[in-house]
Amino acid sequence: MKKRLLITGTSGFLGRHLCKLAATDFQILAAGRDPARQPRGTEPVLVDFLQPEQAANILERCAFDAAVHAAAMAEPNICEKQPRDSQLVNVEATARIAELCARRGVPMLSISTDLVFDGTRAPYREDDPMAPINTYGQHKAKAEESVLRAHSGNAVLRLPMLYGRPDYSERNFLASLLQQLAAGQRLRLFSDEIRTPVHAEDAARGILLALKQGYAGRLHLGGTERVSRAEFGRTLTEVMGLGEDRIENMRQADWKMAAARPADVSLDSSRAGGLGYAPRNVRQGITDALAK
Ligand SMILES: NC(=O)c1ccc[n+]([C@@H]2O[C@H](COP(=O)([O-])OP(=O)(O)OC[C@H]3O[C@@H](n4cnc5c(N)ncnc54)[C@H](OP(=O)(O)O)[C@@H]3O)[C@@H](O)[C@H]2O)c1
Repeated sequence: MKKRLLITGTSGFLGRHLCKLAATDFQILAAGRDPARQPRGTEPVLVDFLQPEQAANILERCAFDAAVHAAAMAEPNICEKQPRDSQLVNVEATARIAELCARRGVPMLSISTDLVFDGTRAPYREDDPMAPINTYGQHKAKAEESVLRAHSGNAVLRLPMLYGRPDYSERNFLASLLQQLAAGQRLRLFSDEIRTPVHAEDAARGILLALKQGYAGRLHLGGTERVSRAEFGRTLTEVMGLGEDRIENMRQADWKMAAARPADVSLDSSRAGGLGYAPRNVRQGITDALAK
């Protein structure tokens, strides 16, 4: 019989990739707010992490052998404007799931972000000190601590900016660029904001690799290249055979946003590489995402 894997955030961009890949080896319990939006073949579990205690009580009644917690309020500008909701979903719900898993001795892998860093000392390794500069990053940093405190077998997997198949979610950097290009707009992209973007399917593979190997502690699952958003856009236009004039270089200072944005939160993912993590490069990732 297949082992039972609880995945939260299954209606989201990463969660959909995770469910697709994990379905071969696991029976998936898909925890989310809307049962109709959970991937086919999964067992939906109705939870709302804005009510962490109630959600934990519901999960308490479910049997599972491991948990991947990917649900989050993952948009920094929204977290900045709705800090109470972010605290409930990103901090408190995560802590409740960690407590539940620890009580049962079930491993928990919690998804975190490169935005726990301040962007001044990249590339970042797993043991570098966290210094978040916005509410989202601060809340994810608190969540990391509660997960690792709850049980020594737990893992925190930090992801960089994700991209991938545009039909998987509009909350996907590539999908938003394609929409702008289709509308005939130029892409106005920061040339001074550096990331190590990764295809969401490769990130999901890395998460399942960590799960299968029983990895504990922090792990970085970044991409292979350090690129600015403008460079990412340029690669996209090249792959699509469009001219460079479709990109307009911007600087972070040109655009006022609710959440402060670090300059360079590139992740050093060599530790994951040692486990067999091998994400594709940006050009190949974009090519594959557009081909599907
Ligand atoms: N996307 C990125 O570039 C990126 C980068 C670094 C780290 N991450 C991390 O990766 C993880 C997955 O992010 P993602 O890109 O897949 O985000 P996403 O597409 O916005 O998905 C978020 C998921 O969380 C669920 N969720 C949000 N609020 C909830 C609530 N109150 N109750 C129950 N479920 C709730 C959403 O459910 P609904 O569909 O019901 O809203 C959705 O399934 C997060 O931990 C995020 O912090 C993402």
